[in-house]
Amino acid sequence: MDIIDGFSKLSKQDKINWLASLFEDKTAEDIKQMSQFWHPDKYSQKLFDEFSENTLTNFFLPYGIAPNFIINDEVFAVPMVIEESSVVAAASKAAKFWANRGGFKTTIIDTTKAGHVHFFWLGKKELLQQLLDDNKEYILNKLKPLISNMEKRGGGVLGLELKDLTDRLDNYYQFEMKFNTCDAMGANFINSVLEETAKIFQSLLKAIHLKDLFELNMCILSNYTPDCVVEAFVECSYDKLGTDEYEGREYAKKFKRAIDIATVDRYRAVTHNKGIYNGIDSVVLATGNDFRAIEACGHAYASRNGQYQSLTSVELKENTFKFKLTVPLALGVVGGLTKLHPMAKKSLAILGNPDSKKLMSIIASVGLSQNFSAINSLITTGIQKGHMKMHLLNICKQLHANQEQTEKAKEFFEDKVVSYTAVRNFLNTLSYKQ
Ligand code: MEV
Repeated sequence: MDIIDGFSKLSKQDKINWLASLFEDKTAEDIKQMSQFWHPDKYSQKLFDEFSENTLTNFFLPYGIAPNFIINDEVFAVPMVIEESSVVAAASKAAKFWANRGGFKTTIIDTTKAGHVHFFWLGKKELLQQLLDDNKEYILNKLKPLISNMEKRGGGVLGLELKDLTDRLDNYYQFEMKFNTCDAMGANFINSVLEETAKIFQSLLKAIHLKDLFELNMCILSNYTPDCVVEAFVECSYDKLGTDEYEGREYAKKFKRAIDIATVDRYRAVTHNKGIYNGIDSVVLATGNDFRAIEACGHAYASRNGQYQSLTSVELKENTFKFKLTVPLALGVVGGLTKLHPMAKKSLAILGNPDSKKLMSIIASVGLSQNFSAINSLITTGIQKGHMKMHLLNICKQLHANQEQTEKAKEFFEDKVVSYTAVRNFLNTLSYKQ
């Protein structure tokens, strides 16, 4: 493949044509057809194009709703963006189940975020500490023009401390800054404050001829937010649980054992937490938040005790089953894509335009609902029963079965194992032409 110069300057159609020219026949033709996914309204399309760079077209994902979520006594219909079948159905099913048992309750543990000035100091630690202690107030005052707006909204800088990391890397220190960014995720705010702090400190050093002792490496927020955490839980007495196979107490114990397994075994824990993020990510995406930051943080948090573990836990006390998710969620309801992306804006409106704390509560509840449904299936019918129903529909679609044939396939496979070959063989017994 040849290297191309100036690709970003080409028009969108020319970018598509260039890409198509690298392929032959059908693939080239398919690439040219990308324009069929452009938004019919050119102003809307321009908005999507400008979210990123070198945009050719749009990539659609299903946008669904999980109704009946009762969270802290308020009812929500929760928008979810996800391509995996069964996720929205599982959330809806768990939401309805818990709606009849008091719903989801949440507590915001804290909303503090952090960022760091990473640098190397070639002098004595005591001197560095002294310089920070003597000038902290001056630095915070100099930051005022940058932070006054955030302060008006009730947020701002919560702390500025020196961290000595020289036991990990020679001469390596950080200024660790803590922030309250209110309803914003706050990445831009935090990064600007960190960069300004480094500049102020550098000019202080310059004035006292110590600038050569300080080697700045970088200024960046941390997506690890172990102090921006929400807890969501559901609880009920044993007699409100159970299936045909297991009475309530037995069911609760079996459920707890499944969580215990995800606490002691890393292989299971990753799959278990992945299921939680099926729920979390889909609402994070629907509301225009940063799912990569949310996931990276959640998985690091799941390892905070030295081993990767379940983010959910179960408590069995007297006759009560309590199921809890504790998860870091640094979310915004202003800034970023939250109000720019028309669907993110609609999602927030559907949720009643929550503040960031309420959004934390909603998203944690959806994560918990997802884990409840997954564990419930895993310890009872097995996961494939539900998945296979959707899988069957997808196979029927792929094989171009019509509605009547699909209905017949659904009936036939009610008590049989679904596979591509089995479905094709079944459809072949009907008057079916692929
Ligand atoms: C599938 O996307 C998610 C599950 O594997 C989660 C789990 O095993 O707990 C069903």
